[in-house]
Amino acid sequence: MTAKLNKLKDWRYVVDAEGIAWATFDRQNESMNTLGKRPFEELGQIVEEAENAANLGEILGLVFISGKHNNWVAGADIREFEQMKTDSEVRNFLEPAITLLNQIENLRVPVVAAIHGYCLGGGLEFALACHYRIATRADGTRLGFPEVKLGIIPGLHGTLRSIHTAGPMGAMTTMLTGRMLRSNVAKSIGLVDQLVSTEHNLRWAARKAVLSGRKSKPLSLVKKLMLLKPARKLLANQMRKQTAAKVREDHYPAPFRLIDMFEKYGDSKKRMRTEETNVFAPLMASETSRNLRRVFKLSELLKAEAGDKRFKPARVHVVGAGLMGGDIAAWCVVSGMEASLQDLDPQQIEKARQRAKKLFKKRLRKKQAVDAAMARLIADPDGKHIPRADVIIEAIVEVLEVKQKVLSSIEKSMKPGAVLATNTSSLKIEDIAKGLKNPVELIGLHFFNPVAKMPLVEVIHGKDSDIETVNKGAAFVARIKKSPLKVASAPGFLVNRVLAPYMMVAIARHQDGMKAEVLDQAALDFGMPMGPIELSDVVGLDIITNVGKILEISPPDGGDLDRLVSSGKLGKKTGQGFYKWRDGKPVKEEFDPDDHDLDQLGRELLRTLIDESRKVVREKIVKNADLADAGVIFGTGFAPFRGGPIHYDRSLKKKTADEKKNDMGASE
Ligand code: NAI
Repeated sequence: MTAKLNKLKDWRYVVDAEGIAWATFDRQNESMNTLGKRPFEELGQIVEEAENAANLGEILGLVFISGKHNNWVAGADIREFEQMKTDSEVRNFLEPAITLLNQIENLRVPVVAAIHGYCLGGGLEFALACHYRIATRADGTRLGFPEVKLGIIPGLHGTLRSIHTAGPMGAMTTMLTGRMLRSNVAKSIGLVDQLVSTEHNLRWAARKAVLSGRKSKPLSLVKKLMLLKPARKLLANQMRKQTAAKVREDHYPAPFRLIDMFEKYGDSKKRMRTEETNVFAPLMASETSRNLRRVFKLSELLKAEAGDKRFKPARVHVVGAGLMGGDIAAWCVVSGMEASLQDLDPQQIEKARQRAKKLFKKRLRKKQAVDAAMARLIADPDGKHIPRADVIIEAIVEVLEVKQKVLSSIEKSMKPGAVLATNTSSLKIEDIAKGLKNPVELIGLHFFNPVAKMPLVEVIHGKDSDIETVNKGAAFVARIKKSPLKVASAPGFLVNRVLAPYMMVAIARHQDGMKAEVLDQAALDFGMPMGPIELSDVVGLDIITNVGKILEISPPDGGDLDRLVSSGKLGKKTGQGFYKWRDGKPVKEEFDPDDHDLDQLGRELLRTLIDESRKVVREKIVKNADLADAGVIFGTGFAPFRGGPIHYDRSLKKKTADEKKNDMGASE
């Protein structure tokens, strides 16, 4: 063995007494194994050594295993993606990595990937270059290609290797959805060859696989038939339809380019080798991918803001078992906590428990896990569990005096160091805290409806809020796998503050005669998940009116909104608002899109939201523009491929300035 291999930083390489080479990936000073420049360089040295040793008959095989407890290879190192700005920079980056994986594939001894934990993106491409893949059945072992979520496709020959290893259906679905598969699912579609029950069995199984020279089975006849031209055409059409039902090609081109490539060249590994790079390079250099990578980093930024890592809450108590309180308690239980639920009305607790059961069944599936979750969701009408709780959340009616009274009685029995929070949507934290003995200890935890779906929770701090409590609140939010955003206690906080004026502008346009369908379509075309008029109906027109009053932006009395609310037409919940609602869906009239400039209209509508986001940063309601962008994307669904409202605005301004410069240059 060369001396260089003793100096590796991210890998360990040893050959055991039986002649099996073990390459252990364990990135220095990182919790995650990702494939960046140095790990690739060191992997190159390992492969060179293994190649020589194999040629000399000194090793029987090579096993790639991880030194981390929860990840094998979590993907390429996304931090290094930013160095690739142009098509040729991308190609220069890919080439050595592709060559290295080919070298692994061509080793003359058996090469085994022994997988425990995450095996994603570039990690799965690496595993597919090995001859045999063994994975543990552990819950945390997940395999997948999340590339489309970053606006790209696999680029290290993962497209062709997965299609020719697992067959087109399984491989394409995995790449197109970006889903993380459990190891048993990955095995059933052919991405994994063998399963073992635990991490402890992995080495033994890998040893056996090397000694008996195991290799992945070749594709079955049926899968081979699916690679033929007529079948590919059929499959590609189906995939295009399914993908188009979820995302638009002009917003998210990556999955559509992948389908085109599969349809044209799916049966030829040779053509796919060159085409994959031809498709990958422009996608990677595109603005869409840069923005989606930004969104990924923003979600990491929110996690990093999570606050006090020493605070490890295990028990939560929720007062108010209505729509929000019931769902918050259920979500905490899904995340592994114990939750006690209090309400004046015991029937509300029971209803919340029944709703929770549905969520548990969907999320936890196994009866045993659902039963255990139900046991952790405790009905506590008298608040007996308050003294045991690490976090107490009040989610009762939005009436200041009632909230003050209930919170001051909770304060008397809570334990020292516990977090006391209100889920208020509109009241000032300072006002609610007035009746408390220790007012600085109250914070807001503003969840969004529906709780199980919305990733963001605003952590609201008042003027004098205790920083330690705010940090603990953020740590709790991260503990239940949501993204915490610290926001100052100001009307509308962040999300409602930016959404409400945008909805009001749309409502005003509607009142001036523009069809709801046109307004909504313009916002969808911009990339919003739902149009502003439909969203108003979903949220409830009474609630919109209330938020409008708080932010002092209500339309004048006697307008459309006022008229609808006064006649009890509150939107989806009453079956009639701006739209008529049938079976939970708005009844929309057709219109001719050619009669309208939807692109311009979408930009005009969103301008209000963008300007408001900038104001929120200027007023220091959130710490900086990146955090505001993160909050607006995760709280409102603002078109992720545009990178956030403030980022989008800055890019627009830069583009205009560049164009001006170019024009001036041209006219000189
Ligand atoms: P809800 O009306 O569905 O539930 C309120 C519950 O509190 C009811 O079950 C009621 O019986 C109970 N309650 C009232 N007074 C009580 C008391 N003194 N002690 C114990 N229980 C009491 O209301 P919802 O929609 O769940 O809202 C709760 C809080 O969450 C409000 O502050 C609201 O502003 C806020 N919020 C609501 C959102 C929504 O979309 N509905 C979104 C974000 C925050």
